[in-house]
Amino acid sequence: MDDSLRSRRKNEHIQLALDTYQSAGTDFDKVQLIHQSIPSINKNQIDLSATFPHFTFKYPLYINAMTGGSERAAAINKALAQIAKACDIPMAVGSTHSALKDSNAEASFTVVRDENPDGIILSNVGADIEYAKAKRSIELLNADALQIHVNAPQELIMPEGDTQFENWLTNIQEIQAHIDIPVIIKEVGFGMSAETIQKVKNIGIQYVDVSGRGGTNFADIENQRRPLKDMAFLNQWGQSTVQSLLEAKLLNTDMHILASGGVKNPLDAIKSLVLGAEAVGLSGYVLKYLDEYGVEETIEHMKQFIEQMHVIANLLNASNVSDLRSVGYVLAPELQTYVEQRSKIINPE
Ligand SMILES: Cc1cc2nc3c(=O)[nH]c(=O)nc-3n(C[C@H](O)[C@H](O)[C@H](O)COP(=O)(O)O)c2cc1C
Repeated sequence: MDDSLRSRRKNEHIQLALDTYQSAGTDFDKVQLIHQSIPSINKNQIDLSATFPHFTFKYPLYINAMTGGSERAAAINKALAQIAKACDIPMAVGSTHSALKDSNAEASFTVVRDENPDGIILSNVGADIEYAKAKRSIELLNADALQIHVNAPQELIMPEGDTQFENWLTNIQEIQAHIDIPVIIKEVGFGMSAETIQKVKNIGIQYVDVSGRGGTNFADIENQRRPLKDMAFLNQWGQSTVQSLLEAKLLNTDMHILASGGVKNPLDAIKSLVLGAEAVGLSGYVLKYLDEYGVEETIEHMKQFIEQMHVIANLLNASNVSDLRSVGYVLAPELQTYVEQRSKIINPE
């Protein structure tokens, strides 16, 4: 694909993501957290930092992969990096493939490191690339971790999609074997199954970002880009973030589980942590806020978002992320049925 087409696609993704961002369907409303009336900790005793073997997130929140590779993308990446720095949260860039193919596109990514030299920055590639390119993607940003996105539905619905999938798992395995920073296998809004999580664990992966349904919808975005817009029937494809976290829970894995997809408020974020995530990623929500209100207001809003996560933790009498994992919750019948049916498959007698 030539570079102007690639850059046009980036801009279409940004605009369509803004226009089609979903307001329902996350399943967060089907999880009720149990209120406790007599907290034993004070608000200033709450520390929601998330510690991983390679780094610590001061708060269990990060800006997830979005963009790069066009002028508009460069401006957005610069703004997102300023937000990430001001809020002291990690940030992932969008797929770096455009920069790996054309050095003119590099600046739209490196602006993120320039704006935030000491921040935690995650680079991003697709599972179709080999180790040498993944290495370059990391070097480009001096990245602290590498996200490898798995986006089969997007490629299959996208008119110009790359549908060569047979090397994905071996590419992931090769990258994991050769790099010494965390490799995060990341969905793009279709959620993950227990089988997928187990599959990547089997090849040595320790981190997944389940990125589920309910916010940015790449089935809808790519369908809008099809001349006949004829694949709307896949608009609700995949698992919600809540279902994906329940899948991971049934697997009872020791992997690091990150949650993203459809998180729209601090309560959704806390529910993700209660369901086993160690940190929570926001994409479409931040993009929309930034588009509407600009950098300064988004910084203030994100600081409030983090503060309000602490408020909810206090309400739940949880002083840290690990306490949140023992908070009681009740699932709506539909979700409970989901768990029962999946449990029989994931953990047969
Ligand atoms: C404009 C836009 C571009 C995206 N591009 C990428 C990408 O290049 N790589 C990737 O891993 N995810 C990409 N995503 C997916 C997000 O990282 C995330 O998985 C998905 O949007 C679901 O989260 P959300 O509901 O909070 O937006 C993109 C999202 C948006 C909004």
